[in-house]
Amino acid sequence: MPRILMCRPDFFGIEYEINPWMNVQVAVDPAQAMSQWNGLHDLLLALGAEVELLPPVEGLPDLVFTANAGLIYKRRAILSRFRHAQRQGESPHNRRWLEEKGFEIVDFDDGQDFEGAGDALFCGDTLFAGYRMRSDATCHQQIGAMLGVRVLPVELVDTRYYHIDTCFCPLTTEEAIWYPPAFDDYGRQVIEAAIPHLIAVEQIEAERFACNAVVVGRKVVTNAGCPQLHGELTSRGYEPTATPLDEFVKAGGSAKCLTLRLDGEEAASWRG
Ligand code: ARG
Repeated sequence: MPRILMCRPDFFGIEYEINPWMNVQVAVDPAQAMSQWNGLHDLLLALGAEVELLPPVEGLPDLVFTANAGLIYKRRAILSRFRHAQRQGESPHNRRWLEEKGFEIVDFDDGQDFEGAGDALFCGDTLFAGYRMRSDATCHQQIGAMLGVRVLPVELVDTRYYHIDTCFCPLTTEEAIWYPPAFDDYGRQVIEAAIPHLIAVEQIEAERFACNAVVVGRKVVTNAGCPQLHGELTSRGYEPTATPLDEFVKAGGSAKCLTLRLDGEEAASWRG
């Protein structure tokens, strides 16, 4: 059974601006955010996932984005070190929860940033790692050495796609969704050479966070408003589902950001 970590949006809101989607003048509707979050939560339960909950904390509005807690690899949790001061207070809460659940916590040295599964996604036995906006390439290299896995660091070049999970989503060990303009030529070549089947999303759906999908087996959950991607997924034998998450898009996140897979992503060959 897939195990997914989520965090209720009790204290979610736009209290600062650390990415181009966030505008403190564009407030979140708390009731709407709660109902959208519940929609995603209940959908994941219906797909057979076991959802665990990280307790929300007042003053940490982005704690809902559990993808950024860390990178999970088997029993190890490589803890995030957030680039922005506004999110650094999340780390002790993530550490405590992961430790209590029996994960072995791995820390980076000071002075390097790493934003967890938001910037590091397995496709097969390769870790695709985004750097520049939020995570440092040095962290990705250290992760590769530590875990003994191949890491392909790719530069993120568009500030709207500041985490790799906003523009890239492995589906299986051989197939992924992506938004090519979020990468430079070299990054695109690296991804094209490594993954045989790639589904490119259009700009309009990339802006609705089409790439920020939760994958459970052949089921793919995205924000509402991504019909082109859903059509393509259906034709390739997947079962896409849309659930409205626009309150979270106001903070620069969607389905995938709101989840952390504790037992390994579908596409990760170590999954267990
Ligand atoms: N407001 C949050 C930030 O800018 C959104 C994080 C979204 N998470 C993700 N994995 N893409 O850090």
